[in-house]
Amino acid sequence: MNDFQMTRTLDENAAEVALRTDVLSGLTRFPKELPPKWFYDARGSELFEEITRLPEYYPTRAEREILLERAQEIASVSGARTLVELGSGSSEKTRHLIEAMPALETYVPVDVSESALTGAAESLLAEHPRLRVHALLADFTRPLRLPESAGPRLVVFLGGTIGNLLPPERAVFLASVRAMLSPGDALLMGTDLVKDEAVLVAAYDDARGVTAEFNKNVLAVIDRELGADFHTADFAHVAVWNREHEWIEMRLRAREAVTVKVRALDLVVPFEAGEEILTEVSAKFRQEGVRKELAEAGLELTQWWTDSEGRFALSLSVADGTVAGSAD
Ligand code: SAH
Ligand code: AVI
Repeated sequence: MNDFQMTRTLDENAAEVALRTDVLSGLTRFPKELPPKWFYDARGSELFEEITRLPEYYPTRAEREILLERAQEIASVSGARTLVELGSGSSEKTRHLIEAMPALETYVPVDVSESALTGAAESLLAEHPRLRVHALLADFTRPLRLPESAGPRLVVFLGGTIGNLLPPERAVFLASVRAMLSPGDALLMGTDLVKDEAVLVAAYDDARGVTAEFNKNVLAVIDRELGADFHTADFAHVAVWNREHEWIEMRLRAREAVTVKVRALDLVVPFEAGEEILTEVSAKFRQEGVRKELAEAGLELTQWWTDSEGRFALSLSVADGTVAGSAD
């Protein structure tokens, strides 16, 4: 590889401590819950990529459509020399943006999945040998130290991953993004939109069962990392639309009463038949809600683009009182 560097803000030990803490608190409360970031070991990242190609999972295609149409406009408004991407995964859609950014010098993908970061860097550098790629293996919900690089910066957060945070977490997260932006910098964010319930549920409960396997992967991670004895066959994948909160909930439901041991925590976790673990929420948005959440974090929405079917939106925003691309 040419110019590739990876900074680990999460060493293996810190990641294991975080997993232990989340599993202990999540499986000893009622209702049980686990944070979605633990889906993404190498297998989970692969399964997510498979999800993006499913006929039912429209968000990736819809967001790519907008990016392809707007990449030039985004590139010229931002004039960015540094592109920071939070939850970058395979960086698959981002390459449309990179191709449209002639001034781009440095790409900073940030992700908890090491395999996703190295895979993405390898293929990007093969196509853009002069790009500097400085990956951060980091949790984007925690304070980030970005590498030194030239401004202006464009921070991108694609895929609708903002919807995997709960509203109070989104407020903290957006405020931290606001703190990363200097005048002339901008945030490009993807949000999935509220739509027909049947379309939403199908996107999270596909016919081939790939999303079910992705959901159950969190149990495989806990088995491997913490010596637990979950059997994925004991749990059913559940995806439901929560109309009040306008989010999809993914859960894992115990098919029968079962007791699970988590050796590393010296913990015994009983499940009643039908008892569920909430493993992910995926919030769906409306323009006014996005504008309001951005404004509450000190960000001003300047552009709102949707795909031709109005399923997904990309928004551009800047720090309050500044204009993207303004030289100073
Ligand atoms: N942006 C890509 C990938 C979305 S999948 C796309 O639009 O297709 C979500 C990505 O966010 C995964 O790669 C996952 O590893 C990463 N991720 C999830 N929670 C994270 C966290 N708390 N900190 C950093 N990365 C996280
Ligand atoms: C990463 N994130 C935006 C995906 C979503 O749609 O909420 C994760 C996912 N969960 C199930 N399918 C995909």
